[in-house]
Formats: sequence, C-alpha cells, structure tokens
Amino acid sequence: MPDLFLAAGAPAVQRCERCGATWPELDATATCRDCGGLLDIVLPAPSVHGAALLSRFGGRCCTHPGSEASGVWRFAELVMPGAAAHVTHPEGNTPLLQRRAVQAYAGVADLRLKHEGHNPTGSFKDRGMTVAVTHAVRVGATAVACASTGNTSASLASYAAHAGLPALVLVPRGQVAMGKLTQSLAYGATTLLVDGDFDDCLRLVREASTELGVYLANSVNPWRVEGQKTIALEALQQLGWDAPDWLALPAGNLGNTAAMGKALREAHALGLIARVPRLLAVQAAGAAPFAASFADGFATRTTVRAETIATAIRIGAPASWDRAVRAIRETNGVVTAVTDDEILDAKAVIDAAGVGCEPASAASVAGVRKMREAGVVGAEARVVAILTGHVLKDPGILVRYHQEMDPAPPRANRPVEIAAKLADVERVLKSRAR
Ligand code: F0G
Repeated sequence: MPDLFLAAGAPAVQRCERCGATWPELDATATCRDCGGLLDIVLPAPSVHGAALLSRFGGRCCTHPGSEASGVWRFAELVMPGAAAHVTHPEGNTPLLQRRAVQAYAGVADLRLKHEGHNPTGSFKDRGMTVAVTHAVRVGATAVACASTGNTSASLASYAAHAGLPALVLVPRGQVAMGKLTQSLAYGATTLLVDGDFDDCLRLVREASTELGVYLANSVNPWRVEGQKTIALEALQQLGWDAPDWLALPAGNLGNTAAMGKALREAHALGLIARVPRLLAVQAAGAAPFAASFADGFATRTTVRAETIATAIRIGAPASWDRAVRAIRETNGVVTAVTDDEILDAKAVIDAAGVGCEPASAASVAGVRKMREAGVVGAEARVVAILTGHVLKDPGILVRYHQEMDPAPPRANRPVEIAAKLADVERVLKSRAR
C-alpha cells in the first residue's frame, strides 16, 4: 500500500476518493471541489512504527491534564498530527466489558463490549467531533452545522459550545429520541426540526454548507472519520494489540464502518497488528440497503424509505457507501440485518446485565447472535461488539418496552403498584423469590 501514508513530517492532505484530486489539510471544503466526491485523509507516516509507536501510545495513557488524556488525541499521529491545540473534553477511554449473560445470549464466550456510551455526550460521536471541531477552529470557521438522527447533533452542540462556535443542527421532526434532542437544546445549538427524514436533513445541510458557508460536521467530513478510527485503536490497545477475530458494529450512514476499515488498514500497514479482524456491520431490517447490496456482492446500490425503532440508524440513503464497501471488502467483512424485535430483545439482555445501551447499539450484539446461529461467527471466536450509545439516550423506548407494550415483551420488567404497606412489599418479594 504505497500511498497509504505521506512522507513523515509532511502536512496531511484531503484526497478525493473518486477523482484523486488533493486539497490541503486546512481547506474547509466538505467534498471534492472538482467532482463532489468524498474526501479521504492521507496522513504523514508516523516517525516511528510498530513497537516503538505502540509504546508511545501506551505511555500517554492516564496522563493528566492535557489532551493526551483523551482516548482520541492519545493516537494523534493517526488522527491529526498537525493540530497544536485540541477542542477536547477529553473523550474516549471507554471500557471493554465482559458480561456472562450477554456472552451466553450471543453464543460467543469471548465477546467483549466496547461501550462508547461512556463518552462525554453519551455516544461514540464525540470521538469524531473533537477532531472535526478542532479542524473547524483551525480553518477559522464562524459556525458549524450537521444533520443528525440525534447523537451527532448532541455531540456537535457540546463541542461547539466548548469551542465558542455557534452550532446549527437539523433533525427529522418527531424521529429523534428524547435524550438526544434535549441535549442539543441544553448545549445551546440552534435546533431545526425538519419536516422530513434524516436523508432530507443531510441533503439540506450539505446545500447549506455549500451555499451559506457553514462548516459541515457530518461524517462525510473526513476528519470525523479520523477521530472515529480511535474506537478500534483503543479497543486494540486494551487487547494488548492482539487483534480479535471480529469487530461488530451497528451501521446507518456508514461513517463508522468506513472509519473502522481505515483504522484497521492503517494499523496493519504500520505493523501495530499482525492480522486484520473481520468487520460485522449490522443494519436494522427496515433500514438495510447496505445489507441488501452486500447480499448481491455490492453489484447494486439502492436506497430505501427507512423505518425502525432504532431511530439512530433510521437511514435509507447512507452517505459513506463507497468507503464502507471498501472497509467490508478489505476486512473480508459481513453485513447483515436484524429485526426490531431482535434489537429490542438483545437490548433487554444488555440492559438487564447492568450495562445498558440505546436501541441501535444493541444491533451489534443481535447481529453477532444471528451470525453465530448461522455459523458465520464461530463459538470460539474472539469478538468485540461496539455499543455506540448510552441507555438514557432513548428513555421513551424503555417506558414503552417495560411499562406500556401490550402484550408485554418477553423481557419486560413491569413495575408493581402497591399500597404504602409493608405487607404489600412482602407479598411482592415472595412472588419474586428465586
Ligand atoms: N449507533 C448510534 C447510536 C448512532 O447514533 C449511529 C449514527 C450509528 C450507530 C450508526 O453509525 O451512521 O456511522 O453508520 N448516528 C448518526 C447521527 C447518523 O446523526 O447521530 P453510522
């Protein structure tokens, strides 16, 4: 892979994935100025490789204060080496959890959960956003904007407030989980409730960024991808750089799938890992154009009118399509889809294990279980599943699942109303005794 990195010490460039044109690191354009294609960041090669680079990363763990404490900027050489200052909370440093109940449910004994809900705004988006907003400041942006199903907007609102930049967020009206919408309002973003779906919001904000000159912070922005790569880098570091067999993640707009592919490609080229894990990208069945395309060898590309309870991934025309195809091909990856019932069931298991996640996140575990049952993932496989968002992002679905759905779903934990009497407490305790 001769052109994977530039010469050490060179400034990064933004290279068009379609026509190959390159643009300087500090060009604020969201897409290629020549052909409109998506841009890919080409970084300078780190000055050291292999074990020397790993020990540099390792030495920065747990440092305080400063941005090296961030689980993103610890890997600065592989993110944005040219930035002298960072807009950071910090972020990352999320746990890799092992829970027997979830392992048993998935049928994989060595399943670990990379819980990105532990980020400052409760989702993995903070990893890309610290980099995009740092870039926005470096290029002198006067305002930042994004379209979102809720998490990107919450994250952008927070990082923009931190940087002192006005933020504009466009979300589909009535389709954003309550935890996420209220975050955008609380962090002070100008919040537009668009009469349309996410795909309409993205089209609109891309037009706004071109016509009105606001800095576009969606994951079509290649710097977002650079930050999100650190989910994989940090998980690999936590595993002692002994790569797992599979890395499973929910897939919507496909920015994260693309980011995982780039992270693994670069980590392998630099000798940080001896082999590349296979990606397992999991879509919601009602929003699964990428899974459908995978099934025919990516011969066709379709869009769908998306519908799923996992509103984070309710996306019918994924923007990072070509990048994600490359990620799946290069990692010998698999794309599958799971139903809303499978998502809710997996989520109930993850939640009841005391871990908790939002609905879209549970798609990763549901996908591992499904692929285990299909014999694609082996029982002995070492698997990391990414939980992308926090359980409190979507309280509405919890109320529906546990209190309102009729008949009650299999794992509903109905609250019990009682009189203010000890006898009632005792009666309930006895009925629940195991
Ligand atoms: N999981 C969660 C919790 C998300 O919020 C998203 C995307 C994904 C998975 C899928 O990642 O789009 O890179 O394939 N949320 C975006 C947003 C679309 O606006 O917050 P993807």
